[in-house]
Order: sequence, then C-alpha cells, then structure tokens
Amino acid sequence: MYIHSINSGPAAFEKNTESGGCLVGSNSPRLNGITVDRSVEFSHEELANATNDFSLSNKIGQGGFASVFYGELRGEKAAIKQMDMQASKEFLAELKVLTHVHHLNLVRLIGYCVEGSLFLVYEYIENGNLSQHLRCSDREPLSWATRVQIALDSARGLEYIHEHTVPVYIHRDIKSANILIDANFRAKVADFGLTKLTEVGSASLHTRLVGTFGYMPPEYAHCGDVSPKIDVYAFGVVLYELISAKEAVIKTNEVVTESTGLVALFEDTLNQHGTQEGLRKLVDPRLGDDYPIESVRKMAQLAKACTHENPQLRPSMRSIVVALMTLSSTTEDWDIGSFYENQGLLHLMSSR
Ligand SMILES: Nc1ncnc2c1ncn2[C@@H]1O[C@H](COP(=O)(O)OP(=O)(O)O)[C@@H](O)[C@H]1O
Ligand SMILES: [Mg+2]
Repeated sequence: MYIHSINSGPAAFEKNTESGGCLVGSNSPRLNGITVDRSVEFSHEELANATNDFSLSNKIGQGGFASVFYGELRGEKAAIKQMDMQASKEFLAELKVLTHVHHLNLVRLIGYCVEGSLFLVYEYIENGNLSQHLRCSDREPLSWATRVQIALDSARGLEYIHEHTVPVYIHRDIKSANILIDANFRAKVADFGLTKLTEVGSASLHTRLVGTFGYMPPEYAHCGDVSPKIDVYAFGVVLYELISAKEAVIKTNEVVTESTGLVALFEDTLNQHGTQEGLRKLVDPRLGDDYPIESVRKMAQLAKACTHENPQLRPSMRSIVVALMTLSSTTEDWDIGSFYENQGLLHLMSSR
C-alpha cells in the first residue's frame, strides 16, 4: 500500500484548479491543478539513499529531459527520473497524465519529489527500452511473435489514452526509446513529458513543435497540426522499426549527413511489384529465416496505413489494436511449432 500524498507544506498540490498546473518559484515550488491521490511524495534524502547518491552505476537511462536511476524504495524496485527545474513543464505534464491514467500498458507512477530537482518515481521495468532490444548487440534478438506482442501492447496503451480517458491525451513522442519492455517481454508506453490534452471533437491544435525527427508526420512538421493521428504516424514508424531494427532516420552518408527516413525506405519497397523479395531484404537480419513473411507483410501494410500522408486516412488506434490482435493470434501458432499442422486453422483465422 502506498501512503497517500499529504496536502500541506511547500510542495502541496492544490486540488480543483482548472489551470494546466504550474510551478511557482524555483526555491519553494508549488504545484497547482493536480491531484496526486495515488502518488507518494518522497524526500530528496530518500531518493539519494536509494540510488547511492545518484551514482553513475545506478544510472539506467538518459533522455532529452532527464537522467534515470535505479533504486529500491520502500521495498519496491523503482526507476527515478531526475529532471532539472527548467523541465517543469515536462514534469507537470507527466505527473498529470500518470496520476489520472492507469493501464497495464502504460508505465506506473509511484511518486514524485520536488526538492532540489524535479523527480518522478516509476515502477522499475526490468528489460529497458525497445530501441535497445532492436539495436544493442548485447541483447538477444526478439522473436517475431514477441515483436507482434510488443506492437499490440503499445497499441493498447495508446488506444487507452486516445479513446478511453476524459479528457483524451496525445502522447507526442512515441518512439522505440519510449516503449519499455518488462521481465515477460510485455511492453509499456512511457515518457509522457510532451503529452497534450485535447478535447474530443475540437479543431486540431497548433503548438510549438516538439517530438523526435523521423517520427513526425508531415502535417505536424510543416504546419504544427496536432491530433491523435500524430501518435498513429509515430506508431507506424515503430512498426517499421520492429520489422527492420533500423533507426527512424537512416544515415546514408556519414560525412555529408544525408539521411532518409524509414517511412520512405519501406514505401519504395512496398510500392514495387513482387514486394516479397524486397521486403525480405528489409527484415532485421537477426531474425534469420525465423519469421512468417505473410505476417511481416501484414505488419508492413499496417505501418504504411499508419504513416499515410493524409492524417484522416490513417487508422485509429482502436482499429490498429484489432488488426494486431488478429495478427498476433496467427503469429502465436508460428512460434509454438504447430504451424504446419494447423494450416487449415491458420487460414481460417487470417482470413476473418
Ligand atoms: N520505469 C522505468 N524502468 C526502467 N527504465 C526506465 C524507466 N523509465 C525510463 N527508463 C529508461 O530511461 C530512458 C529515459 O527515460 P524517459 O522517461 O524516456 O526520459 P526522457 O524524457 O529524458 O526521454 C528510457 O528510454 C529507458 O531506457
Ligand atoms: Mg524518452
């Protein structure tokens, strides 16, 4: 059981404020507009003790806004994200979403601390992020079935924030480094620092451009249009990463830093006739021959739909979840070795 936050002292959170939440003064921060019913307030001392004084050997991550440390807090393994005071906007965005939104496929917030720096404390996810699994040679390659499961898990997390919360949220920084992998190789969406609220049915929002190059759809990169479809586009790029293990932006010439996107690379191949051979060339070599090409092709088609130039023609996260559920039910058979015995059944399932 967690101790509920106490609504007093300099770091108290005021309830029922309509504002998006702001930090007032950096020496004695006050946080408005956020209820933190399920979060614990930790002291700086407690976090320092748990992380060996934020030592390098406890460091497990580094992102654009923060350093992340491993530590054991009140008997639970935790990831402690340290952000500097300048990142108060990101801190508040993340705190706000994660205190309101709870789902198996979203990382769980345990608590926070606003002494000295800004800290967010999460459940520790044992297996790091998806980008590491796809591109670090010290990790075992992920099987095809695991990749499909990771896609489905992340899609479910995103579907939840897009369709089942009030208000709905747009993540705005979906990428493989922000998808965490747990001990059972199930995925959780993390890093809600850039998340935006959006009213259902409202016209698209125009905002300052944030996010990661290579994952941004054209309407956002060029016009700053924000809608849930920007997450759908970025999710499509993650699907291409799952297939190919390539980075979203591929450097083609180290010296001139010419680069091409994963989206363009796949589209060239998928638009050619007799795509099977071309597609095989794009599949992560670490999979060897151990993948069903039909399933890969379907995932690539789904990624193509997600990265459609026109946001309105991209599928919703809800239909993506349904598509991936179908794909996953056929892919499981492949992995348990009953593929050849179950051809008939497989055919039935995939043609539903
Ligand atoms: N709960 C967690 N469990 C394990 N590792 C984590 C956790 N949260 C973050 N990390 C690691 O730290 C990295 C950076 O965290 P993230 O929240 O994405 O910060 P940033 O906003 O700086 O990008 C992640 O890519 C991941 O490798
Ligand atoms: Mg990140």
